[in-house]
Order: sequence, then structure tokens, then C-alpha cells
Amino acid sequence: MNRKPIFAANWKMNKGASETEDFIKSFLSKLQGHDFPCEIVIAPPFISLPKLADLLHTATAGQNAHAIQIAAQNCSQYDAGAYTGEVSVVMLREFFVHFVILGHSERRAIFGETDAIINAKMKKAREANLKPIFCIGETLAEREGGNLERVLRTQVTEGLKGLTEKDMAESVIAYEPVWAIGTGVTATSQQAQDAHAFVRSLVADLYGAETAARIRIQYGGSVKPNNAAELMACPDIDGALIGGAALEPQSFLEIIRNGTIPAAE
Ligand code: 13P
Repeated sequence: MNRKPIFAANWKMNKGASETEDFIKSFLSKLQGHDFPCEIVIAPPFISLPKLADLLHTATAGQNAHAIQIAAQNCSQYDAGAYTGEVSVVMLREFFVHFVILGHSERRAIFGETDAIINAKMKKAREANLKPIFCIGETLAEREGGNLERVLRTQVTEGLKGLTEKDMAESVIAYEPVWAIGTGVTATSQQAQDAHAFVRSLVADLYGAETAARIRIQYGGSVKPNNAAELMACPDIDGALIGGAALEPQSFLEIIRNGTIPAAE
């Protein structure tokens, strides 16, 4: 199955509007002349979405601008109303947002998002035709305790409950081992490949072999220019969800370049 790799920058709580503008101008100029065989996505903080949409979708945007798609880092599971501090999927659509990161381990651990909440957000995102980037991953204690597969199975089964095969065709999964996020410790390519193959088998159990063969599974956790090629060469790894190393245009570009060279050859 030929799956197009997808490289997504998760800026987390970094870059307001002016830093977003600086990044995009620099990144677009670096992209000139390249036609990487992948999708490129940027997920800024909510507050920077209008600026990003403006930069990428105005008439003055360079020809590379449409090579970049926009993601939100979260969305509300509710439609509208008395939910202080929340942002709805309809609001996101106004700013050309196509993807939404859901279930990130920081949302789970710091903001108490349960599998049930994440599942409600997944459904709400799909109602608005947003493409979820559905994040899963185990802590070090869970891995060392021999619970890797149990944890991933629960996250996948509960998080995707009620979603259809069509929803899966529009979704991306991101496997992000919690112990590798922001730590500089990357999963070995073997550890990552094994987990990805297992996640794909879970999708096959739930949705059948064809959906499993089609769905893209990104790796996330300390992806850098110098480890991207090895990780992306693994048969079940279809791109990356990148935090720290996607804050600089040059290193984000190098990850994309190094990560797509094997696929292009
Ligand atoms: P780092 O690339 O900084 O480890 O972050 C990974 C991540 O959490 C992306 O969502």
C-alpha cells in the first residue's frame, strides 16, 4: 500500500501571530524549488490560526503556500454555548483548518482528557469534516511494566468507538511514546516499527485489512533531522508529528527532506 507520508509540526504553546509570520515567511522561502512527496501540516496555537490562514490563503501568498495545511491542536466536544475557554469545530473551519490533533499525551496527562472525552472530540471533529490526528502512546512505566499493548489497545478501542470506516479514511494516527516526547530520547526504529505494526493490527481488527493498510500512522517523540531518515524507512511509519524540532524552519525542512528521501527513491 502506497501511503503518502505526513509531516506535522505541533508547535504546542509556542509562537504567537508575529512569530508565526516570521516562521512561515522563512519556511516558504526554503520550500521554494522543492516538491517533497508528502503532506506538510502546521498546528499553531489557536490564537495564531487567523494569521496562519491569512499567510497561506491570501492572493499574495507564494506558490508554495498551498503545500502547507493547517491543523488545530485541540477542539471542543461541544457545538456552542456556555463553555468558557473552548473553541468549536465550526470556528476552526472558518480559518481553513483541515486537521485537528486530538488525544495528545499532554492533553491526557495535564488537562485530564479521558478516552471518553477524546472519543467525543473525535466524533465532533468528524461531524465538521475535520481530519483528526489521533494521538496514542504509553508511559515508560507502562512499557516497562509489560503493558504497552494493553494501553494502546484501550486507547485505540475507546478513542475510536463509534467512528466509521469512512471516518478512518479521513484520520491519521500518531504513535507518540510519552517517554520520548521532549526528552531527546527517541524510540529505536525497531521499537517504533513494532508499535506501529501493532497499532495497524488493532485497526485491522476493528475496521478490516484494507482500512488498516490505508491509514497513516505517524511517529512522534524527539524526531530530529538526524533520526528522521531511519525512522521513516520503517514500513509502518508514515510520517512524523514533531514538537521541538519543528519550531525552527530549517530543522523542520530537514526532517521533511531526510524523511522523504527513502520514500522518493
Ligand atoms: P517533541 O518532538 O518535542 O519530542 O514533541 C513530540 C510531540 O509531542 C509532538 O506532538
